[in-house]
Amino acid sequence: MKKILVIHGPNLDLLGTREPQVYGKTTLVEINRSLKKTAGNSRVALTIAQSNHEGEIVDLIGGARGKFDMIIINPAAYTHTSIAIRDAVAASEIKTIEVHLSNIHAREEFRQTSLIAPVCIGQISGFGAQSYQLALLAAIALLKTQKK
Ligand code: DQA
Repeated sequence: MKKILVIHGPNLDLLGTREPQVYGKTTLVEINRSLKKTAGNSRVALTIAQSNHEGEIVDLIGGARGKFDMIIINPAAYTHTSIAIRDAVAASEIKTIEVHLSNIHAREEFRQTSLIAPVCIGQISGFGAQSYQLALLAAIALLKTQKK
C-alpha cells in the first residue's frame, strides 16, 4: 500500500476559528477526516501530523525518507521563511506537494514568495479546505502512474 504523509504547519490547528474570512470555517479535524475518507477509498495509507515548530517539521520530513511515497505539506508561515524545511524536503527525495488554503499570490507581498515551492512537484493554493483534497487527488494520481 502506498503511503502519504500530510504535514500541517503552525496555527493550522486553529482552523475553523482562525481568520475565517481568509481560511474558512472548516476545522482541521474536519479536513483530516475528509482526507482519510478519500485515502481509504483509494486504498492509500495516510499519516497526518500538525506542528507549530519548525524543527519538529524538519524532523518529520527527515524521518519520512524511505517510509513514505509522497508528502503533502502546508508549511503555513514557514512557507515564506524556512530554508530548513526547504532543505529537508530536498534531502528527503520524497515527491512533495505544497498546499495553501488561501491564494498566497493574491495576498501581502511577504506571502507571495514560497521558499518551499521550488523543491516541490507543484503547489495548490487558494481553494480553501478543498486545496487539501486536490493535493491528495494529485498525489494518488501520481502514485498510480508509478511502478511499484
Ligand atoms: C497559509 C498561508 C500562509 O501565508 C499563512 O502564514 C498560513 C496559512 C494558507 O494555507 O493559506 O498560516 O499557508
